[in-house]
Formats: sequence, structure tokens, C-alpha cells
Amino acid sequence: MRPLASDLLAFCLNLLTNPPPFVQPTDPLNIPAALYDAIPACVLAVDNRLRITIFNRAAEELAGHPREKFLGRDVREVFANTMPEYPSFLVQTINGNRRFVDEEISFPHNGRRSRLLVSTAPLYDKAGTIAGAISAALDITPIREVRHRMHHLETLAALGQLAAGTAHEIRNPLTSIRGFTQLIQARALRRGDATTADYCRLIMQEIDHVNNILSDILSLARPHTRQLSLLNIVKIVHDVIAFMYGEAILSGITLRPELPPEELWVQGHIDKLKEVLINICRNAFQAMGPGGILTLSVSADAVTVKIALSDTGCGMTRDIIEQIFTPFFTTKETGTGLGLAICQQIMHEHGGDIQVESTPGQGSTFTLLLPRCLPPERSEAVTAVPGRIFSNSDTASPG
Ligand SMILES: Nc1ncnc2c1ncn2[C@@H]1O[C@H](COP(=O)(O)OP(=O)(O)OP(=O)(O)O)[C@@H](O)[C@H]1O
Ligand SMILES: [Mg+2]
Repeated sequence: MRPLASDLLAFCLNLLTNPPPFVQPTDPLNIPAALYDAIPACVLAVDNRLRITIFNRAAEELAGHPREKFLGRDVREVFANTMPEYPSFLVQTINGNRRFVDEEISFPHNGRRSRLLVSTAPLYDKAGTIAGAISAALDITPIREVRHRMHHLETLAALGQLAAGTAHEIRNPLTSIRGFTQLIQARALRRGDATTADYCRLIMQEIDHVNNILSDILSLARPHTRQLSLLNIVKIVHDVIAFMYGEAILSGITLRPELPPEELWVQGHIDKLKEVLINICRNAFQAMGPGGILTLSVSADAVTVKIALSDTGCGMTRDIIEQIFTPFFTTKETGTGLGLAICQQIMHEHGGDIQVESTPGQGSTFTLLLPRCLPPERSEAVTAVPGRIFSNSDTASPG
């Protein structure tokens, strides 16, 4: 990715310092504004008194101000507080007749430090003397973030493989342990040894708990091809609310349904969609405590169905939000941190997604997005593939 940024910079500088013959005049000090404005990198040039002579459109966009604010000003003064290294590159380019290539400098942008990749070149007048310097710069912060995220995902994928392999290996001996514990329990009961029988019950209970965690790990590690069917999502949300009602009462929580009167259709796997809704409801219950309110609303536009679950719980900081879909991330003493990772995987398998908004101390909203389908009477046959949902209306006709 980095070579791509430097190639683009090299191309821009080359274009500006050696304008093509059809760009008249060929004097690089008189480069037409349309040329440098068309360049996707930030272009800035100075004369040999370090006054800014070119400030292109990309630079305006990054700076958030029109070029008039910068043209004619001393570049050292403009960048003294934000990135002092940058004018010093231009000074050295003019005084030392040297080029800087792919220098990385940090600069403040939207409240955080971003990274710029900068290259410079001297500009000569017709007599061949240095008349100024030109620089091209690219904001590589998004590229760095993607690279960082990819590295993170690669590590997770490797960890996932390891976890899935380990989970598989643990399962077999666990099944034997459970079987023998059951035998011991049966013998103990026959002998009237209630204490041993109860110990066995506790062992099996814990084995079942471990087994559930292993199932979660395995379901995350393996992509699923499921047969999807046409479902009325309003009814599913209604059923989940009914299912969670008892738990809500026990926890002192009010469930507030905001369901539309009409049916809204999606392609899906009923149990998996219910699993997502139940997981998010349980998280909300755990975040709220008695007196909390969980609002479940369903709405739709022409292409997307939205199910929003809004709680009045503890909320999350930005830092926590960035990690909640990472397997094993949990802030709870007894949590496994797999709930939301599984929810996200299920939503992706449905061609959908999850959006999160949260304010610490006020609450969180998890919005599930699913592709909207036509009602059954207007739908044609559907085909399910992992990761995306196609109906016959959005696949090309065969042949
Ligand atoms: N509604 C919510 N309000 C506040 N924080 C939440 C909410 N939902 C999730 N979180 C945060 O996201 C983390 C991850 O949630 P996730 O469901 O993946 O795991 P968990 O609930 O900790 O454990 P489990 O695997 O048992 O579900 C939680 O530990 C919590 O910090
Ligand atoms: Mg959870």
C-alpha cells in the first residue's frame, strides 16, 4: 500500500516539474491551475522567498480553508505550529537543491494526529536557476488504518484457526468425561449416595457450560451455508419480545415494542436471527439493571429493514465500541466476549450488518440492517449462498 502512495506522489511531482508538451506554457513556474487542481495529492509550491504560490484543491480540502488564506504567505509562518518539519524540507530543497522522497510527517487533523507522506522537488526558471520548490503530499492515515486493521484481522484469523482446532480437540475427551460422570451419578443414585450424585450433576453442568463455549468458538470459525427462507421480521421481533418478557420482569426492566402494523420481509434463518436479537437483548439487560427501558423498533425503507434495540444502560466509550465485535473481548467478569462476534457473523451471513451508537452513562442503540425482500406473494424462488443473499430479481437471468 505504501508503494502505491509513493508512486502517486512521484507521478504528481514528475508531472508538475516536467509538464507534458500539450500543457502550455512549459515553464514550471506557470503551471496552469487546472493541472494541479486535478491532482489527487496535496500540491503546494513556494518561490525562493518561501512565499506560497500554489495551493491546490486537495490541499484546500485537507486544510479545510480556501487557498486565498495561504497564497502569498511565508510557508514557515503558516506551518510553524502544526508541522514545522515541512517548511524545513522546502527550505532545504531550495537551498541545497535536494529532493525529499516519501518523508512521513504527522499533523493535527480533526482532533487527532494524522500522517502525511511528503515529497519535494526544486523548481527552475528558464535560466536554470532554482526559483522555488514544489511538494506533493498524501494523507496516508486511512491507508495506515486499513493496514493496521488487516494486520489485526490476520492475527484474529490465525487465532481463530488455533481456537477452532483446540475447541475440536477438547470436545472429544469432554464427551467421555461427561459420559463417565453420568455413569458415576447413576451408580451413586443406586447406592443412595445423594452427595456424590449431586457432585456429578454439578460437574455435568460445568461440562455443558464449557461445551456451549466450544460450540460458540466453532460456529465463529466455520462459515455457514444455510438454507434461508422468507421471514416476516416483525413477527420474529414480536416473538423474541414475548420470549424475553419473563427475564425482563425478573430484572426489573421494561420492554417497549415499537412495531409497525405491516409485515416486513427478509431472507433469513429464523433461529439465527432470534439468537442475534436475544444476545443483544441480554447485553442490554446486563447494561441496565432494574428501572431500565429497552425499546425495540422495526422500520424499513425500500431496500433495507432496520431493527433498533435501544437501551438506557451504562453506554460505552469509543474505545470499547471499537472492540466489541472482536472475539473474546468482554468487560464482564463472567462474559466470554463471543456474543457480539457471533451476532456480527450471523448478520454478515444474511448480507446484513450491525451499527452501534452509544453515549457513556446514557445508553446504547444496536441497529440490525437486513436487505428487504418482497412479500411472499410477489417473491420468486430464492437461492442462498454464504455471505450474501440473492433473490432471482437481483441475479442475472441464466444463460
Ligand atoms: N448494550 C450494551 N451496553 C453497554 N455495553 C455493551 C452492550 N452490549 C455490549 N456491550 C459491551 O460489549 C462487550 C462485548 O459483548 P459480547 O456480547 O460480545 O460479550 P459479553 O456480553 O461480554 O459476553 P458473552 O459472550 O457472554 O455475551 C461487553 O462485555 C460490553 O462491554
Ligand atoms: Mg453478551
